[in-house]
Amino acid sequence: MTHAPRIFSGIQPSGGLTLGNYLGALRRFVEKQGQVETVYCLVDLHAITVWQDPARLRHQTREAAAAFLAAGIDPAQSILFVQSHVPAHAELGWMLSCVARVGWMNRMTQFKDKAGKNAEAVSLGLYAYPALMAADILAYQATHVPVGEDQKQHVELTRDIAAKFNHDYGVEFFPLPEPVIEGTATRVMSLRDGSRKMSKSDPSDASRINLTDDADTIAQKIRKARTDADPLPGSMAGLKDRPEARNLVNIYAALTGEAPDAVCARFEGQGFGAFKPALAEVAVGVLSPITTRMNALMADPAEIDRILLAGAERADAVAAPIVADAREIMGMIRGAR
Ligand code: TYM
Repeated sequence: MTHAPRIFSGIQPSGGLTLGNYLGALRRFVEKQGQVETVYCLVDLHAITVWQDPARLRHQTREAAAAFLAAGIDPAQSILFVQSHVPAHAELGWMLSCVARVGWMNRMTQFKDKAGKNAEAVSLGLYAYPALMAADILAYQATHVPVGEDQKQHVELTRDIAAKFNHDYGVEFFPLPEPVIEGTATRVMSLRDGSRKMSKSDPSDASRINLTDDADTIAQKIRKARTDADPLPGSMAGLKDRPEARNLVNIYAALTGEAPDAVCARFEGQGFGAFKPALAEVAVGVLSPITTRMNALMADPAEIDRILLAGAERADAVAAPIVADAREIMGMIRGAR
């Protein structure tokens, strides 16, 4: 069975979106739009795997929706919706957690990172998280999943779960989705520590650029970003052991669409005193219009809710029949839905 190409991806509204989310995911979601069917989800059921303040979660979910719209997601072209509005996710999530193996879950590096030394005290949901993510993708029989580097292992696990389902029930029902990891910003690093990824959950706000930051805040965070005293070399090869410098050059390249080597060549011999203001200028140039549109959209939350509810109806129309078929394949008597 061949499946028509369909893209699915999601972002957790567990904090404000960052430059990492924008360059590694959101901007690429916009690029895919119009090429194939695109389904994009604000995954609030994933966000609650760690405790969220309810009022903040609601705010962040609407704000993430505003970021999608402001960045160029067109709800007429893409299906844009909230995960908890479409029951197929939680339902297939359970079914697939009966297919996934505990040994597979134990290999997930993101769980190990998030649980740290405290693995006994984290929620069961955090452990089962990758099975729900597999359900997100497979409920749409999606074939391609644009993500940043950190989500590659989860998409590969989704392939394993799909393959085991197909094998166990003797069907070719689920496609084996491909992770799509492209461009120069597949792993944007923290501005404070070049060995950690930029993250919405980092306790230090100075470590990241938020899509809600104003121009002055962006410039200040870049000015304070950790670097070294050496000048820039003529190519990326010279930045092998300078992770913070490499990160800033990669961000610059991703924002302007240039090759990182071309950025190095242009700034060769110059220090960060010259490079940082240039980076701040391109960052503000790209992000400010998005922030302005986000603020305008956030002034009318009822309109955001309307767009999301319309998206959920369309998502449900795709996912519900697929999950009904999956239930029947697993041996459940067909019900009303
Ligand atoms: P999340 O919410 O952590 O991140 C959303 C997307 O942004 C990418 N990303 C980054 N890319 C480059 N540099 C960074 N510093 C950076 N930080 C985040 C992520 O790789 C991701 O593509 N488990 C997912 C959400 C999810 C999902 C899905 C994704 C749930 N179900 C189904 C795809 C398909 C997550 O926590 O992403």
